[in-house]
Amino acid sequence: MKALILIGGYGTRLRPLTFSVPKPLVFFGDKPILCHQIQALAEAGVTEVILAVNNVPPALIESLKGFEEIYKVKITISVEYEPMGTAGPIRLAKDHILADNPSGLFFVFNSDVICDYPLSKFIEFHKAHGKEGTILATTVEDPSKYGVIVHREGGQIDRFVEKPQTFVGNKINAGLYLLNTSVIDRIELKPTSIEREIFPKMAADEQLYVFTLDGYWMDIGQPKDYLLGQKLFLQSVRARTPARLASGPTITGDVLIDPSAHVDPSAHLGPNVVIGKDCVIGPGCKLYNTTIMEGTKAQGYSLVEGSIIGWGNTIGKWVRISGLTVSAEDVQFKDEVIVNGAMVCPHKGVTTNVTNAGTIV
Ligand code: GDD
Ligand code: MG
Repeated sequence: MKALILIGGYGTRLRPLTFSVPKPLVFFGDKPILCHQIQALAEAGVTEVILAVNNVPPALIESLKGFEEIYKVKITISVEYEPMGTAGPIRLAKDHILADNPSGLFFVFNSDVICDYPLSKFIEFHKAHGKEGTILATTVEDPSKYGVIVHREGGQIDRFVEKPQTFVGNKINAGLYLLNTSVIDRIELKPTSIEREIFPKMAADEQLYVFTLDGYWMDIGQPKDYLLGQKLFLQSVRARTPARLASGPTITGDVLIDPSAHVDPSAHLGPNVVIGKDCVIGPGCKLYNTTIMEGTKAQGYSLVEGSIIGWGNTIGKWVRISGLTVSAEDVQFKDEVIVNGAMVCPHKGVTTNVTNAGTIV
């Protein structure tokens, strides 16, 4: 079986992290966002993952060999010469999808969604209804920024409405599809939206079904949703493999610490904290609802709350970082600074307080 992952755009909403790496390589939990997807696909029996990109970030190319080895799956890049939307890239990669694919099936994933990927059940459901496509769906409170699905009992989709202006329902497209290869022939070789042009037509032809996800789901393309997604991801780790989470008198709730990180026993962590590779968290630090990425050092007595700290940062002593601050790679926070809601660009030093949320440093 094959899979195609749609990687478009420039990850502008996850800046400043995406100044240094493309969005799929931003770490989420214990690995890059893309690796969560590749791992789930490989485990479901996918032999080749096609990355559909409209610009080719060198960092992505460099990482692929390593990913192929870790996940034992072939990874191919399919490059568009103009953005082809969410369906055009499927048509463009037709030969890759069809080659050596006796299953006649392929997955399509939006690259910015995270969940437990119940792919075996998804495949079973798709084969049982026998039609051309299945969309994985979830329920959200505000469906207006998503594709909304109206379906019958049993899952047949009657309507698919992308970004509805008026309330249609709150079951939404989770951005993960399983399609028969015959769907490729529904798509012309030009920029095309699968949500606006292909799915409504497939629904009208009674060829589209929905499989509702139980468990968590999140589009983590923006900092606020990234942290919310991290909380849900950690809950899922707690439910499935609790031994991976940290425990001890100074740990509260769900905390994931890379084994190579050094956390001083007097630091208080949690709930909902991820500490990356080779990080050093000094004495008396307090970290809540936060990610600290690879190689960052917090010298001591600092508070980081509700924020995303990029890789290779130095956090001096008695620093306070809060309010959805996002720092890029190699940022230095000087002793005692207070930073609230800032976006800190790569290689910057933060030497004075930044208390107006939304400030770019
Ligand atoms: N290769 C390629 N080329 N990929 C693209 C292009 C393109 O021209 N345009 C968008 N993509 C990729 C994005 O990188 C992302 O992985 C996916 O296609 C969807 O695009 P988004 O820009 O993230 O769309 P969205 O979040 O507004 O809405 C989509 O996702 C929702 C779930 O998060 C839709 O699929 C909605 O129906 C869905 O509910
Ligand atoms: Mg999205």
